[in-house]
Parts: sequence; C-alpha cells; structure tokens
Amino acid sequence: MNILILGSGGREHTLAWKLTQSPKLTKLFVAPGNAGTAAIAKNIPISVNDFEAIKKVVLSEGISMVIVGPEDPLVNGVHDFFLNDIDLKKIAVIGPQKAAATLEGSKDFAKEFMMRHNIPTAAYKSFKAETLTEGQAFLETLQAPYVLKADGLAAGKGVLILQDLEEAKKELSAMLVDSKFGTASTTVVIEEFLDGIELSCFVLTDGKNYKVLPTAKDYKRIGEGDTGLNTGGMGAISPVPFASQEFMDKIHTQVVKPTVNGLVKDNLPYKGFIFIGLIKVGDNPKVIEYNVRLGDPETEVVLPRIQNDLVEVFQAVANQTLDQIEIKIDDRTATTVMTVSGGYPGGYEKGKEITGLEKVEGSLVFHAGTTLEDDKVVTNGGRVMAVTSFGANFKEALAKSYENVEKIHFDKMNYRKDLGFDL
Ligand code: AMP
Ligand code: GLY
Repeated sequence: MNILILGSGGREHTLAWKLTQSPKLTKLFVAPGNAGTAAIAKNIPISVNDFEAIKKVVLSEGISMVIVGPEDPLVNGVHDFFLNDIDLKKIAVIGPQKAAATLEGSKDFAKEFMMRHNIPTAAYKSFKAETLTEGQAFLETLQAPYVLKADGLAAGKGVLILQDLEEAKKELSAMLVDSKFGTASTTVVIEEFLDGIELSCFVLTDGKNYKVLPTAKDYKRIGEGDTGLNTGGMGAISPVPFASQEFMDKIHTQVVKPTVNGLVKDNLPYKGFIFIGLIKVGDNPKVIEYNVRLGDPETEVVLPRIQNDLVEVFQAVANQTLDQIEIKIDDRTATTVMTVSGGYPGGYEKGKEITGLEKVEGSLVFHAGTTLEDDKVVTNGGRVMAVTSFGANFKEALAKSYENVEKIHFDKMNYRKDLGFDL
C-alpha cells in the first residue's frame, strides 16, 4: 500500500524509517519532509495544513493511508476533511477527528474532560477577560509557584510558572486583556503547581481498543540541569527508569483506561496516538496535559523499541481490530540526543552544512530540521538531528549516542551533555 506521512520533523523521519521496514509498504510519501525522509521516501513540498493540496496528492499517488505527525492539521480537522469528502472517505487516517483533537487544542476542554471522567490532575479554574478580577482573587488563594496556561495552541510557549503573586496577576492580565498569546489566551487555566518528576505515556487507540506503548522522558530546557528556555525537546529516554510496574499499573487504571473510556462515552472519535504528559507526585500519577499525536523527540526512542510491523498496527487502528494485535517491545533502553542550531530556541541561522554523518556507527540518526541544498545536507531548523542508541540501561545507551553526536558537525552546533542527570 502507498502511505503518506504529514510533517517534517524527527518524529516523521522516525515514522518513515519504521514504515519502510514493512513488507506491506509499496511507496512512501512525506509532506513536506526533510533531508532524512528524502533518502527513504518521496518528499512532497506542500503544507500540512493545505488540505486541498493533500487531497490532490492522495488521489494522484494512489495513497490509501495518511499518518498525521503534528497536532496542527488534526486540530484544524484534517481527519474530518477526509471523512466528509466522497473521494477520500475510505482512506485510512491515523490521528483523531477534530472534536477529539480539542484535548490538545484547548486546555480548558482537557481539564473538563479529566474532571468528568475522574482522571487525576491538578486542581484548576478557568478565566476570561470578563472574569480577570476573579482570576486575580483566585491567585491570592493559591501558594506559589503559580501556573498559568493559555487555553489554545501557543507553540509550546503558553504555560507560565511564576514565583511572585504580583507578577502572576500582571501576566494573567497580559494574557486575558492584552492577548499575550493571541486568541490562544482568550481563556486562561490557572492550576495548582504539582511538585514531582515528569514522564510521558503513549497510547495507541482505534477508538474502542487500545495499547499502552513505551514510556519516555523528554528534556525540554535548553540548558544543562534543566535551566534556561523551553525548547521542543533536547533529548529523550525510554523506558523511564522510575516508572515501576506498580506505578505503570496506576497509570493504566487511573489514567489510560478512563481516558479511552471517556473518549467513547463523550463520543469523541479517536484513531491514533494519545500522548499523556504526567507528573509523579509522591507515588501517584497526575495528568498535566494531553497531546493528540506522538511527541518529538519521544518518538525517536519509543518507535525504535516497538518490534511490530507498523503498517499492520496502523491497519488494525483503521479497522478497529487493535485487540487482535500484540505489541512487542524491545526491553533495552533507547536514548536520543538532539543536536540544535546555535542560538535556538531564540534566533538562529539556517543553511549550515552538516558533515560527519557517514562516520556514525551503531546509532540511528533521525533528521529534524534539515534540507538538501545541491545534494548537501544543511540545517533548516532549530532542532537539527536526533541521534538514537540502544543500551542495557540509559547510561550505556547515552554513551553511544554521545560518541556518535561528536562525529557530527555543523557550524554552531549545540546539544545537552547532561541527559539523564536527574535519574
Ligand atoms: P504543558 O504545555 O501543559 O505541557 O506545560 C509545559 C510544562 O509546564 C510541563 O512540561 C511542566 O513541566 C510544566 N507544568 C505544567 N503544568 C504544571 C503543573 N500543574 N505543575 C507543575 N508544572 C507544570
Ligand atoms: N517533546 C514534547 C512534545 O512533543 O510536545
């Protein structure tokens, strides 16, 4: 079968790498893709949000399955677009419909969902410009640090954690009244601060059945020791060593099961990945967010550990027969180290030639922000490439990733050298 992946990051390169191992795949397309996907699939230079252009490609290339990488097209309703089009409605789309994608598109909606289904999460209240005074009064009843969240999609920047009450009140006003995050902060969720260590749990569902996939931990800050600005993710480790079987059982019964059952009860059609962001508070999981897609760079460590034929798994998702699939997981640890452009997550230059890739041995290199320029691989984004390795434990796997990262070079390349420091 011919398959199209939407997206252009490390997540999509990893999906492409995994799908090309399937004997069921005939031809793979990635839109728009990067230099890594160009080497194993055909890149199509169209935007993930240009549904009409996607339709043309699907029909002209005889594509029968579309896998949606990022959240944007899902929140914009790409799955619904397919279902509502007479020529496209039989095409399998992996990714939830718009109503369910609101779990990521609106934090307020996600909180209400968790309340309704008794899923453990931080206590909260939501406010709008009309209720700014009530919001500021609510802040006074809380202890620092104060957590303010823009309701809508804000490119990963919409969460503020503030130590000072007066600053929190000012920021609340900036978000609600001065549209600090545009329409994304028309509503703001104020929630209780959760003190604990973070991890992510990945679930694949066909809307009826589900499979729990490996856990992962992402390193979001640019600086060593988890300092400095937030990034898209500087590296990841899977499995998370502190996620014991007992803790995983709690995640399963308290979070995963009620989430999937809640989707069914609320009539939120979902065929795709659920990425559950958790904080371990004491011995208990609490949900901090839902994402309606795989994480990046979590995908770069989660997918290599899955031993199944991914085309077969996705077919089962499309046909709602996921109960007939047994997911097989490699029990080794996988780690990935993200190399980034100097200056990222602030301003950075693009077009730097990347060398040394041919010297990498014993690791997988997944391209994130790269492109081809006269047959040369050059940088084309903040996060440039992720180097994934396996090991008996995370230290061994990381040592391998770092050994290979050091063979790769581009002007002003940066990466975190302390992944796993907190484990
Ligand atoms: P989110 O966009 O919801 O993932 O939030 C971004 C980051 O803010 C998370 O990865 C956490 O590190 C942090 N965060 C979000 N909510 C809370 C909370 N209630 N308590 C503590 N940290 C939080
Ligand atoms: N690595 C975090 C994310 O994909 O949202």
